[in-house]
Amino acid sequence: MTLPKLSSVNLWLLACAVSLAAAGCHAPGKPGPGPEVPRPSQVLDFPTLYRENCAACHGENGKNGAAIALNNPVYLAIAGTANIEKITANGVPNTAMPPFAKSAGGSRSPPSFKAWNESGPSLLKFDW
Ligand code: HEC
Repeated sequence: MTLPKLSSVNLWLLACAVSLAAAGCHAPGKPGPGPEVPRPSQVLDFPTLYRENCAACHGENGKNGAAIALNNPVYLAIAGTANIEKITANGVPNTAMPPFAKSAGGSRSPPSFKAWNESGPSLLKFDW
C-alpha cells in the first residue's frame, strides 16, 4: 500500500481540523450555554483551587514555595485537618498568610479539608 503524499496544503487543512477539534464543539466566537469563566465558588477541583489560591506562596505541588511546604506527610499528620482548615479560614495574623473565609474578611465560604494521601502528591483536598 502506498500512502498518499501530503502536500503542504493538505498539511495546513489537517492542522485546521485538529485545532477545530481541540477547541471543542463550539464554533469559534460562538458563546457556550454558561458563562465562560465559572464563579470562584463553582470551582471545586482541588488542583485548580490550589493553583489559583495557594501555589504562589506554598509552591507548585505544595513544595519549594516561599511559605511552608504543605505537601509533607509528616506536617499533614501533625497539623491535622481541623487546624489546617482553621488556618486557611482565618489566616495567620501579622504574616503573609491571608484569611480565605468570608467571616474573616476573605472571599470564600468556609473550606472543609480532607487530607489526601492516596495516590499522587499528598496535598490537602478541600471544598469551598
Ligand atoms: C500570600 C501568600 C500566601 C498564600 C496565597 C497562602 N498562604 Fe498559607 N501561609 C503563608 C505564610 C507566609 C504562612 C506562614 C505563616 C506563619 O509564619 O505562621 C502560611 C501558613 C499556612 C498554613 C499553616 C502552616 C503551619 O504553620 O501549620 C497553612 C495550613 C496554609 N498556609 C495553607 C494555605 C492554603 C490552603 C492556601 C490557599 C488556599 C494558602 N495557605 C495560601 C502564605 C500564604
